[in-house]
Amino acid sequence: MNLTGWRSRRVRSVSSLALAVAALAAVSGCEQKRNTTGGGGGTATGTGTGGTVATGPILIGHYASMTGAEATFGQSTDQGIRLAIKERNAAIDAGTLKGRKITLSTLDDAGKPQDAGNAVTRLVTQEKVTALLGEVASGLSMVGGQIAQQYKVPMISPSSTNPQVTQIGDMVFRVCFLDDFQGMVMAKFAREELKAQKAAILFDQGQPYSKGLADYAEKAFKEMGGTVVTRQAYGSSDPDVSAQLSSIKEANPDVVFLPGYYTQAANIMRQARKLGITAPFVGGDGWDSDKLEEIGGDAVQGSYYSNHYSPEEDSPVVKNFVAKYKAEFGSLPDGLAALGYDAANLLFVALDKSPSLGGTDLAATIAGIKDFVGVTGTITIDPQRDASKSAVVVKVDKGRRVPVKRYAP
Ligand code: PHE
Repeated sequence: MNLTGWRSRRVRSVSSLALAVAALAAVSGCEQKRNTTGGGGGTATGTGTGGTVATGPILIGHYASMTGAEATFGQSTDQGIRLAIKERNAAIDAGTLKGRKITLSTLDDAGKPQDAGNAVTRLVTQEKVTALLGEVASGLSMVGGQIAQQYKVPMISPSSTNPQVTQIGDMVFRVCFLDDFQGMVMAKFAREELKAQKAAILFDQGQPYSKGLADYAEKAFKEMGGTVVTRQAYGSSDPDVSAQLSSIKEANPDVVFLPGYYTQAANIMRQARKLGITAPFVGGDGWDSDKLEEIGGDAVQGSYYSNHYSPEEDSPVVKNFVAKYKAEFGSLPDGLAALGYDAANLLFVALDKSPSLGGTDLAATIAGIKDFVGVTGTITIDPQRDASKSAVVVKVDKGRRVPVKRYAP
């Protein structure tokens, strides 16, 4: 999909789909409704409740890295969300679903904490969104989540895995697994499948996600009888990690854990191969982007990472989603797209069930969702507002993400 040509922080016209949604919104005259359907706006009624007359569309806010070093995170998530919205709005047109349509306002945070804070503040205080979707990166969800909590607007992170994210408060939810589990999966895979005894760890000290996942993988690997021979850190924008890699080479590990985001991870693997490090790399979900291979080339082939799903999985739900997504956007959906789709659909279930669209009612309704069948697995929101789900370790293989092993929680 063409994402070029947008300049501002606003991404509303990012796709023809978005334009269609916007056109629908204009036709139904929802614009002036915005201020009355927003977050704390208790007067707006939910759909399907007691025969109340549905009014204009419900506005959802999405804050995302549409640009920057993690741009595919935001772009993929946004596409997944937009596909879910398109399907829901079409179902209403077809008369199969009572209720109000959904419109989406996506604001770009460029992967930066301050921009994420500004985006969420604007979505909540000016655009008066009913609920928030985002962020992908845990560090950004921690910023946005504080604001969502403060204004009592429910927020669902599709994919932030750091445990602290939902600890912010009762307005903040997620639909993905957590990094204590993910770290265990990486360690177990390295120990049992790669038969690794000695591990090196190289993490991004600027990202709470990366630091947390490094800690969890280290702890689990040691508990499983492995040894961590060296632990090294880099900064989010460090172009050169040769000093850290030299130490790793010297330590001669059987495996290198690299729990960072894809741009840095790919660059690091390139440098590592040049330096003669031949040990396999194992990453986490932060590698999940087509850019990993575009940037990393041969250096990333044969590496493994844990993820929320693989488009190659042999399940009817996954196959159906992959087909629809391909038809809409012409590309294969990554894990972010799948999680964005699941988060949006789960939110719609809550919107339909909630006694009102007020933040407190809606949050309580999200908290009660059980056995929601998503593309990335079945989701039950637990008392910590988290989801307990399985992970799949995939192998990077020339454009494919071959599922190698699935781990249940
Ligand atoms: N889990 C990562 C984080 O919390 C984000 C991510 C999820 C990245 C899924 C890629 C795929 O920061």
